[in-house]
Amino acid sequence: MSKLPLDRILQSQGFGTRKWCQRLIEDGDVAIAGEVIADTRSSFETGNLEFSVYGEPWRYREHVYIALNKPVDYECSRKPSHHPGVLSLLPEQFALRDVQPVGRLDHDTTGLLLMSDDGSFIHAQSSPKRHVPKVYVATTHDAVTPQLVGHLLTGVKLHDEPAPLAAIVCEKLDEHRLKIVLEQGKYHQVKRMLAAAGNHCVALCRIQIGGLKLETLGLMEGEWCYLEEPQRELLTAA
Ligand code: URA
Repeated sequence: MSKLPLDRILQSQGFGTRKWCQRLIEDGDVAIAGEVIADTRSSFETGNLEFSVYGEPWRYREHVYIALNKPVDYECSRKPSHHPGVLSLLPEQFALRDVQPVGRLDHDTTGLLLMSDDGSFIHAQSSPKRHVPKVYVATTHDAVTPQLVGHLLTGVKLHDEPAPLAAIVCEKLDEHRLKIVLEQGKYHQVKRMLAAAGNHCVALCRIQIGGLKLETLGLMEGEWCYLEEPQRELLTAA
């Protein structure tokens, strides 16, 4: 645990420049344990420190790990061009501390999206060597047939991919819906695989990453939550 001056603590949590954080403190907008701290040089142990800014409670976090239930028409790109970015669904502090999506979902894909400001977590989660299964529910234009399921399980050849790509699990859920589990995360992979197998994806939702299920998080579309350590551990387990 380390002891840091309050202005530095606020800065590290995304409340703005050091100067701006000093102003917040001097203006009496920051409190710890219900007591306004107006001295910018007061130092505190950061571990699990609880504080409030403008009356809103926060807990110090060295890094943040977030699960978002992404709605349609939000872009994962850092510089969104046609739709708002997913960062606009989070408190503005997160953009200031450089929170980024872990991998990408298409603008019209919904469901579980991880976000973090921890570079090694982002790198580890995005590494192609990791083989973390990702579970999708795809809604198809044409009816799901046994041939389609068989084709996706044996593998389809995609343009620019040297070897055929196969789903590790593919199950018909109903006439127009499939559960598809992939270990890779290639560009538009589900949609391209469905197209290569002769169908068309009209809606796509990611419902699980590793052992972390969206339904257990209880998030409505557009809502987010912190992922604490036990939930992060699920990300490696299938
Ligand atoms: N596959 C796709 O085609 N799109 C996504 O957003 C995710 C996986």
